[in-house]
Amino acid sequence: MPGTCIIGLQWGDEAKGKIVDLLTQQHDIVVRYQGGANAGHTVVVGDKIYKLSLLPSGVLTSGVTCVIAGGVVFNPAKAIEELDELQSRNVEDCDNLKISDRVHVIFPWHFAEDRVHDSNTSDGENIGTTQRGIGPCYGDKVGRSYAIRLGDLYRDTFRKQVIHNTKEKNRTLAALLPKDEFRPLDADTIFEQYREYAERLKPYVADTTEYLLSAAEAGKRILFEGAQGALLDVDHGTYPFVTSSNSSGVGVSNGSGVPARYINKVIGIVKAYTTRVGGGPFPVEQDNEIGQQIRDQGNEYGTVTKRPRRCGWLDTVAVRYTSRLSGVDSICLMLLDVLSGLEELKICTAYEIDGVQTTTFPSHIDDLRRVQPIYETLPSWQEDLTQAQSLDDLPQAALNYVDRVSQLIGIPIEMVSVGPARSQTIPVGSSPLVTATP
Ligand code: IMP
Repeated sequence: MPGTCIIGLQWGDEAKGKIVDLLTQQHDIVVRYQGGANAGHTVVVGDKIYKLSLLPSGVLTSGVTCVIAGGVVFNPAKAIEELDELQSRNVEDCDNLKISDRVHVIFPWHFAEDRVHDSNTSDGENIGTTQRGIGPCYGDKVGRSYAIRLGDLYRDTFRKQVIHNTKEKNRTLAALLPKDEFRPLDADTIFEQYREYAERLKPYVADTTEYLLSAAEAGKRILFEGAQGALLDVDHGTYPFVTSSNSSGVGVSNGSGVPARYINKVIGIVKAYTTRVGGGPFPVEQDNEIGQQIRDQGNEYGTVTKRPRRCGWLDTVAVRYTSRLSGVDSICLMLLDVLSGLEELKICTAYEIDGVQTTTFPSHIDDLRRVQPIYETLPSWQEDLTQAQSLDDLPQAALNYVDRVSQLIGIPIEMVSVGPARSQTIPVGSSPLVTATP
């Protein structure tokens, strides 16, 4: 059975790109199936650093077909920019890219709407979106009246859709924006621009649902690359401070069109601590010197937005919840090296809400806001871990930390990462990640 999923189990930025890159070599197809250019993947190959936000990380591996499946919201300008960038750096396999004709396309009005809606929540706290038009595009998808899918760009009706949407969107934006901020959108300009994008992308456009179903039935090895993290899942995350797609494991099938029966392994990606970008409750946040030390050591600034990430201790209540939600079989523990040099380490093992102790992750953010984390303190280590090649090279305190995390989450750890390079990967047990080429 061929399907493996990579799912971030926190609020995103767990370094999923590195694991996808390592596992790509053992797969025929890599699929992105939700989110859009709000994601940021950094992949280090040799001395080269690639930053991708829309194309699957698999485009860096030759012989692998990369799919952007129908559940993605698609910014064509961004896709073209990334394709051009890769081609200018001689990454040849962009020919193996397939983009679903079902992806919903992001238009200029979505960016404008993202700005308006983000700063306009009823309780006054911004969601802090990436401003990439993600929520408004998914909103139109579900609302249907203004939705435009990639396949529509090649039809005669496309001009009519753009004229209709531009008129309606101008009307609502004019009502929502202060007068001096409203710039009417021009239907002809948008139509011409998107027709150009469509022409450029034509060789890649395909019915990827059919392609993936046939591939799964034929026993091809498929790697599903989740974007964001499970706590940002629109249905099961810290709503409404979430993204607009199913970013936990439950989103793989609806986004890709591949039924769950073809998925035989789910790998959860967990940072050795926690970060969050944007608004919303974050019980283990360290808005203090410790948080700053983690931010500095981990270079915790957004790949897409460059925003400083909020930093805190590892929260095993949250990760236990998201690993169950995603049906995780094993965990890759990332960025362990970042914790070197801290005075002591804490792990959140339970929550206290209004004096009552619980290990259940709350379903309402009002409850999450009132959480007092209960911590266990572990000894730290001072050694640099970035050169460690095996568990034997890790100091005892780091080994204890890894062990304790696995116990608390209740899932085996199959790999520990001590740096961004392929070679900075320590297998635990008989991990398939060890067979990857450094
Ligand atoms: P949106 O996805 O741009 O609508 O943003 C909604 C929330 O998800 C915001 O808090 C963002 O900071 C967060 N978010 C979206 N994409 C990512 C990501 O790739 N990593 C971390 N946070 C993200």
